[in-house]
Amino acid sequence: MADAGIASRRKCEEIIEQGRVSVNGHKITKLGTTVEPSDRVVVDGKTLRTAKKVYILLNKPAGFICSTQDWGGERRLVFELVREKGLRLFTVGRLDFDTEGAIILTNDGEFSLKVSHPRYEVTKVYEAVVSGELDREKVKRLEKGIVLDGRKVTGTKVMIVRPLNNRTLVRLSIHEGRNRQVKRMFEQIGHRVVHLKRVQIGFLKLGPLKCGQYRYLTPTEINRFLSVEEKPHKSFKPPSSDLPE
Ligand code: URA
Repeated sequence: MADAGIASRRKCEEIIEQGRVSVNGHKITKLGTTVEPSDRVVVDGKTLRTAKKVYILLNKPAGFICSTQDWGGERRLVFELVREKGLRLFTVGRLDFDTEGAIILTNDGEFSLKVSHPRYEVTKVYEAVVSGELDREKVKRLEKGIVLDGRKVTGTKVMIVRPLNNRTLVRLSIHEGRNRQVKRMFEQIGHRVVHLKRVQIGFLKLGPLKCGQYRYLTPTEINRFLSVEEKPHKSFKPPSSDLPE
């Protein structure tokens, strides 16, 4: 219902509990009832039309926030950069205000979970310019897994691309999306991230998309993400504030 633009998720739950929804002629009041596309869902006497699903890859410029609302009211939202309106889009995970690069905008909750939840281990690749000279020892520390918020970061791969003037260009891949994760990982080993760009999400590369440009994912790309399997051998219990959405 929320995907169809009726109201927010919480409000939709209230509407269901108030007995205002029926599926194929039967009133439902239980939350979490699943429906098929062929089911007829009626809310307050009106048949629900499911919103089309949209999947956009955006090359986010710095200076935009990945949020549906800017509570301070001063900053621009990434949604201003795409023409799709009225579809209750959200971002899959988040990039900071000053981070550039690949971010997916969608209105499909299941898709978002598959791409962003660490249990699916979809790798995110970043290019970072960090202060100072990064040596092999520091790279090893990152790859061995440093502790953030009392929990070890696993699955990090780091490659030193080249030294720059008193800085180092690094490429790293991670499969979690904790708040300011890359910046905090480097802070822990004594380096400051000067510039950060996400260049890849899973198999999806930015390719020729210029900063501020976007494109729609192809059906093959969408299905590849939707068919990602959960990694069964690990149990993830991140604090809820760490989850990307
Ligand atoms: N890690 C960060 O520190 N910032 C981002 O925007 C993304 C990952």
